[in-house]
Amino acid sequence: MTIFAVTAPLPGRAPEMLAAAGDVRDAPGAGRLERAQLLALVEGVDVALTMLSVRVDDEFLDAAGTNLRGVCNVAVGFDNVDLAACARRGVVVTNTPGVLDDATADLAFALILAARRRLGEAERLVRAGKPWEWGMGFMVGHDLRGGRLGIVGLGGIGARVAARGLGFGMEIAYYGRRESPRAAELEATRLDLDELLATSDVVSLHTPLTPETRHLIGARELGLMKPTATLVNTARGAVVDEAALVEALREGQIAGAGLDVFEHEPDVHPGLFGLENVVLVPHIGSATVETRATMAELAARNAIAIARGEVPETPVPLPAVD
Ligand code: DGY
Repeated sequence: MTIFAVTAPLPGRAPEMLAAAGDVRDAPGAGRLERAQLLALVEGVDVALTMLSVRVDDEFLDAAGTNLRGVCNVAVGFDNVDLAACARRGVVVTNTPGVLDDATADLAFALILAARRRLGEAERLVRAGKPWEWGMGFMVGHDLRGGRLGIVGLGGIGARVAARGLGFGMEIAYYGRRESPRAAELEATRLDLDELLATSDVVSLHTPLTPETRHLIGARELGLMKPTATLVNTARGAVVDEAALVEALREGQIAGAGLDVFEHEPDVHPGLFGLENVVLVPHIGSATVETRATMAELAARNAIAIARGEVPETPVPLPAVD
């Protein structure tokens, strides 16, 4: 009988799908597992369904042992998984692309609106019961219409953010390693990164975290942005040098930021807390009831396919090994 390990409770139909296909070993409780608990949970299992906060490395794979055939990440990102280590052991890796694009794009756009219109700051002011009065210069932000939305990474999520930007009357530019097939329908102009940063009113990050994209946006890049511009990150925290961002926001080098992800999650750079010009939310890009159920069900289908020796729907390409 196949044994599935599930590192956090799954919503939707995923639990019953897995239970119908094998024995399910559930995490003890809904919170983050201690490392020792995690390693004990995966011992001897055939397929592990992992969350993005779980580090899948040699230690994890050793603990799982030689039965392990698949790691099914319940996330589109898979920077938590050591792909080379999985490849060396013949362990298949899957993720959940596509199904969370709209939810994450909605959240990115919510952050764009919140940061451009100073919603966090405005809400804090009212909630604190501070005196205020309508005035021509009171809490003014920036229009979206007529501004340039610079998308870093015009993949599934980036393209949906761009489509929302078009609907708000923004002009779309993007940076990507190659021409995007989505560019024409989005009327998007491809620019190199420096030009995109220097000319955009809003820069929204949608690139996976890889060794090449770690600190893609650092002090130099922030220095290229307009003082009236906003940076939004719903991708991975470490794509941005968080200490450099704190400095840029503090010094008014850029107008503001909206962050769903952090460099050392769940820790947040303490310098961000005191800044009014940043909107902070706790990695909730895909956090809707519907999307989370769909993600869990896709991960469950992948896990069941691997258990049956079939090709899963959404495998992650693994590096070649000797
Ligand atoms: C993912 O799936 O990688 C997202 O970050 C989840 O919100």
